[in-house]
Amino acid sequence: MHPSRISLISIFAAGVKAQSCTLQFDGRLPGNLNTAAFDAPNQFFSDGNVLGAGLSFSQLLRLQPASTGSLFDVGTVPVEVTISDDSIFNGQTGFRRAELIPASNSGADESTLGVKTLHFSLQKDTQRPLNFSHEYQLVFLEDAAFSTNQLVLKTGMILGGQANADPDTLQLFGNVNRNGGPQVLFSTPFTEGVFHNFAATLDFAALTTQVFFSTGTAPLEAVTEVLDNDVSGRGQFHFGVLKKPTDGIGDITKNGFQEAGIDEGISFSGIFQEDSSTGCISLSP
Ligand SMILES: *[C@@H]1O[C@H](CO)[C@@H](O)[C@H](O)[C@H]1NC(C)=O
Repeated sequence: MHPSRISLISIFAAGVKAQSCTLQFDGRLPGNLNTAAFDAPNQFFSDGNVLGAGLSFSQLLRLQPASTGSLFDVGTVPVEVTISDDSIFNGQTGFRRAELIPASNSGADESTLGVKTLHFSLQKDTQRPLNFSHEYQLVFLEDAAFSTNQLVLKTGMILGGQANADPDTLQLFGNVNRNGGPQVLFSTPFTEGVFHNFAATLDFAALTTQVFFSTGTAPLEAVTEVLDNDVSGRGQFHFGVLKKPTDGIGDITKNGFQEAGIDEGISFSGIFQEDSSTGCISLSP
């Protein structure tokens, strides 16, 4: 069955209407794009950040074939973000990292004002597995002062002793500088062979977050209530792989252990943000 038929049927069954909300940014990629497009200014993502010194995005991004079973890829394709031993950004020898930042997201733009819903989907690459002995940040909002992450999706062995029975879990945290410690807003197994679709409605005035989730092409469903979460501080949204070290002491951006021979990646798709100030949220395309 054609994917759009499936979502229409589920929408009618659920009794909710598909909505078309005003977009703030849109990182959904047409299938005819070449990765060289990411090495120069483009409408999708920053061509300058975040990647290892001396690298270009075309060396580390891998555009994926169409029809990969991701909810919001309708005529668009996922892109894999990979890291290697050379993924050392800005002298951060403790990290290996590469992330996409939406082109319009300067850190002081409209994406961190009002009420916005952030969408993204991600999937493992079985050919380039992560090492769950490490902590990874896969998606995060970093404030403009670089002092906190107001929202961060982590996986692996979370540093700092977060309750984490199985490191092979996707854990969405609220502001990591919260009094009393970071709060896990939502967590779910990081299952192989399927896209995990997330949405987070961020109210930058009321300082709340509500999380929506589904897998494959199933419509999103609310998986939390509207939760208190300090999303103030503006900043930029990152989508990629930030691998933290093991055995880090002090400033882990510069210290700790990273094994050589890294070839790891995560596929992303359906990255976009919509204006939810009128309550508009896309639960399906
Ligand atoms: C995973 O990471 C740990 C710590 O860096 C390393 O000792 C181990 O060899 C790695 N495992 C694999 C399968 O790469």
